[in-house]
Amino acid sequence: MLKIERPDDRWEVETLYDLSFAPGRELLSSYRLRDGVKPVTPLCLVSRDESGIVGGAIRYWPVRVGGAPTLLLGPVAVHPTRQGEGLGALLIQSSLGRAAGLGHARVMLVGDAPYYRRFGFERLDGVEMPPPTNPDRVLGLELVPAAWTGISGPVTSWKDAVGATSMRA
Ligand SMILES: CC(C)(COP(=O)(O)OP(=O)(O)OC[C@H]1O[C@@H](n2cnc3c(N)ncnc32)[C@H](O)[C@@H]1OP(=O)(O)O)[C@@H](O)C(=O)NCCC(=O)NCCS
Repeated sequence: MLKIERPDDRWEVETLYDLSFAPGRELLSSYRLRDGVKPVTPLCLVSRDESGIVGGAIRYWPVRVGGAPTLLLGPVAVHPTRQGEGLGALLIQSSLGRAAGLGHARVMLVGDAPYYRRFGFERLDGVEMPPPTNPDRVLGLELVPAAWTGISGPVTSWKDAVGATSMRA
């Protein structure tokens, strides 16, 4: 069952991420974009089985790309014993559907194109993550037609933006 992540879920989700990613995940440049910024709560989902065990989770943060409000998808992870059952797809598609319903225009992530292509993500040319990010892993999706047209430049933290009031512009 998918539910919006609540404060009580936090440590189980952190434990899942620690299990799913290489040690030092919080040293990645994408984490610097999250420091001191609240996640986009309605899009952070947790999947539990009938016994209440966490099987997967997804979180989103607000960032800016060349100044434009953008959703940063991730981290997303599925417990190793539950991978390949479609849980990752469920978490991604459900959260993207909610994001579209809430009026968000564009989403980006840093990840494997062979996986994210199935959800419509494509390489973002001209969108600059801090080095040493491989540009082939910087991917984007439009929730509103042409939402990425003309958007380029550095990805910056939401908290560094001047006049950051609305996430849905
Ligand atoms: C990536 C992840 C979330 C996918 O979750 P999942 O529930 O196993 O995914 P689904 O069941 O929806 O899809 C499984 C399919 O995706 C493929 N897949 C999974 N990870 C992939 C990757 N990194 N690159 C390409 N394909 C991938 C599987 O081979 C499988 O293919 P198939 O449908 O042809 O059999 C999960 O493998 C995971 O948590 N991995 C470790 C953490 C991680 O890498 N997170 C993503 C960071 S970019």
